[in-house]
Amino acid sequence: MKVLAVGGGAREHAIVSGLARSGADIFVAMKNRNPGIARIAKDTFYVDEMDVAKVVEYAKEKSVELAVVGPEAPLEVGLADGLESAGIPTASPCKDAARIETSKIFMRNLMREHGLKGSVRFVEAHTIDEVESGLDELGNEVVVKPTGLTGGKGVKVFGEHMMTKEDILRYSEEIISNRIGGSKIVLEEKLVGEEFTLQAFCDGTRILPMPAVQDHKRAYEGDKGPNTGGMGSYSQSDGLLPFLTRGDYDQAVSIIEQTVGALKKEGAPYKGTLYGQFMLTKDGPKVIEFNARFGDPEAMNVLTLLRGDFVKICQGMADGNLANGLNQFHRKASVCKYVVPAGYGSKPLAGEEIKVDEKGISDEGAVLYYSSVNEKDGKVYTTTSRSVGIVGVSDEIYEAERIAENAIKHVSGNVFVRHDIGKRTMLEAKVVRMNDIRGCSK
Ligand code: AMP
Ligand code: GLY
Repeated sequence: MKVLAVGGGAREHAIVSGLARSGADIFVAMKNRNPGIARIAKDTFYVDEMDVAKVVEYAKEKSVELAVVGPEAPLEVGLADGLESAGIPTASPCKDAARIETSKIFMRNLMREHGLKGSVRFVEAHTIDEVESGLDELGNEVVVKPTGLTGGKGVKVFGEHMMTKEDILRYSEEIISNRIGGSKIVLEEKLVGEEFTLQAFCDGTRILPMPAVQDHKRAYEGDKGPNTGGMGSYSQSDGLLPFLTRGDYDQAVSIIEQTVGALKKEGAPYKGTLYGQFMLTKDGPKVIEFNARFGDPEAMNVLTLLRGDFVKICQGMADGNLANGLNQFHRKASVCKYVVPAGYGSKPLAGEEIKVDEKGISDEGAVLYYSSVNEKDGKVYTTTSRSVGIVGVSDEIYEAERIAENAIKHVSGNVFVRHDIGKRTMLEAKVVRMNDIRGCSK
């Protein structure tokens, strides 16, 4: 089977590795030369991934039989629509369905209008006057979001990034006047709890959920500092998390199911991986956001553990006939840590050479996924985004963490890592905090 994969980050390296394990011949359209992907692919096309016409032309020329799009930005400009119109079944959503990610206001309105569980109180604002009246309705304990795509970095939270009403108004003004993420704003009630990710394979009607994962968006240890694309993530062998019960997990599955149902009713059936970012609150899981794709780094956790045939899963999503039972995963824990350029989160240092000792990493028993690096003349250079993801897999999270940590020593250069991700002290503190929030000592 000839499969097109679009994108050149670590998420796509994990996608391409999964497809290759299922025996596909892989053709890749990406903008940078990701050395891990380039090695697996049968053919690579270096192109602006947003250039729908060029990517579709390439896919037709190579007679690909199936496509998977990694990042969200090409979905927003209709890459899945273009591929499907050219007769190429695509395991990623069309533009209308991708609005679940690309328009935060579409997502919130969909949930409200269909009365879905997991909804939060929110107000849409286009002017500062509307922001002020929104604050009268919701109070100051809010989160301010530009409604469009900002690469996960446009959100500010009261009590963390904004301390006073004046701060909220100042940031709102900045969004409106600088047209950040489209210049419109969603004010949401601030949720308190632990965040987790639940991803599901969807075929327009049915969903097959994956193990839950917890990402760490903050740049620095102790969940401090600016929001990033994600610094690392972990999953537990039973598919739950130390603070997440089976009941919580099932509620999140049901919210994703309802959302896919609502999209179908709206005439925008959702095909592809749907990513739910949830806050586990004292009242159960609430939706923070949806993404129209795999998470990055979460893709590295789940795809490393996937036992089911990934090509069959992608075909099932694209064709609308996802068979039950394909979502089988090794019953192991995983810990993924991102190595990022110095300054990542504020002023990342691009163009720095890093040394990656691939043999050293595999000798530690870890899996390496290259991210947004560029390979030139056999050397690997940083960009402004994350550099490499390293995944440890074992029965226990702490053992998987140790494997990942040992492997990270084989990456050198002007880079940093969040060493606390997956460590016992951090996880135990999360369990205590969640029990406090639930008001129990489970
Ligand atoms: P997003 O880009 O929507 O994923 O938001 C980035 C981060 O902001 C999330 O991972 C949360 O940590 C935080 N956040 C977003 N929405 C809320 C909310 N309603 N309540 C509390 N925190 C939030
Ligand atoms: N892990 C966050 C994201 O993929 O958006």
